[in-house]
Amino acid sequence: MQAAGKLMKVFVTRRIPQEGMKILSAAGVCEVSLWDSDEPLPRSELLKGVQGVHGLLCMLSDKIDAEVLDAAGPNLKVISTLSVGFDHLAVDEIKQRGIRVGYTPNVLTDATAELTVALLLATARRLPEGVEEVKNGGWSSWKPLWLCGYGLSGSTVGIIGLGRIGLAIAKRLMPFGVKRLLYSGRTAKSQANEVNGEFVPMDTLVSMSDFIVVSCSLTPETQGLCDKTFFSKMKNTAVFVNSSRGAVVNQEDLYEALSSGQIAAAGLDVTTPEPLPANHPLLTLKNCVVLPHIGSATYSTRGTMSALAAQNLLAGVQGTAMPSELTL
Ligand code: NDP
Ligand code: DGY
Repeated sequence: MQAAGKLMKVFVTRRIPQEGMKILSAAGVCEVSLWDSDEPLPRSELLKGVQGVHGLLCMLSDKIDAEVLDAAGPNLKVISTLSVGFDHLAVDEIKQRGIRVGYTPNVLTDATAELTVALLLATARRLPEGVEEVKNGGWSSWKPLWLCGYGLSGSTVGIIGLGRIGLAIAKRLMPFGVKRLLYSGRTAKSQANEVNGEFVPMDTLVSMSDFIVVSCSLTPETQGLCDKTFFSKMKNTAVFVNSSRGAVVNQEDLYEALSSGQIAAAGLDVTTPEPLPANHPLLTLKNCVVLPHIGSATYSTRGTMSALAAQNLLAGVQGTAMPSELTL
């Protein structure tokens, strides 16, 4: 607990929406140091910034491992990440040291599901290609065979990871006239009833789906899940969409599948690395739409995430119940 008159030290690794900063300063219990930039801080600054802190508010691009925890030292009580994904946190190390973790589930589900649907439609209906053709003079006339893509009506959609976001994506896709909704994961989900979801083995999902949407968390089990074998089982007319984490996909294998016509198209909101270098081979392909990890990027969602991350941080440094604590 806070010693009388002594403020808890917290470090915030990036500029965050004002909602969170206001909560931190209004609480009056901590002294906040901020890496005052929109860009990630260098590793050396992270190691310096965490020294002696009681709380750390970090981003998904900050790798929080044993080195960072050692640099922070024994005061550290809480790590609050401005994300629902926590694959950047060395969870076992953190748990061993008795540090609590706050994260931001639910508040970003709608925004991320909405963006994923937008990405799916943009990819399947070739929107970036169409926009480009209008601008570069390639639009010569209405042509029966030009810029055709794939529609959702009557299709089979496969969702890998029917969690909070996966379910929200499914709910938004069903009204487009989707005929079958398949999903895979470790366990069948009772909430799948809400979308008539059928729990099927991964291979069945991959081979039967016209659209595959990846919305699982990144774990050792899902790392590299979408590889050469995976793509080889997909229909040649199928569209692949990933809004989970880039490392779920083997990008060399995806490039091969897209350029050889093994699959029709891919839409990625997440890549490895991030940012994806501007000269990356995937960016040369017309049938690959890449976005810069903007799933949760609405003003209100980011504001709410910021507030929640600040509340988690405060609860962690004060030893009270967090609004969203990750069970370690
Ligand atoms: P949830 O925990 O609700 O869902 C994760 C899902 O992943 C669960 O349904 C889980 O299924 C599934 N899963 C875990 N292991 C496997 C596996 N081996 N095979 C298939 N599925 C598996 O999390 P959210 O829905 O809230 O978020 C999901 C992920 O989305 C986050 O972890 C993050 O990486 C990403 N994300 C990306 C955003 C973006 O901007 N693009 C924004 C927000 C989140 P089961 O319960 O059966 O294990
Ligand atoms: C998350 O929260 O995990 C996203 O990737 C960014 O909102």
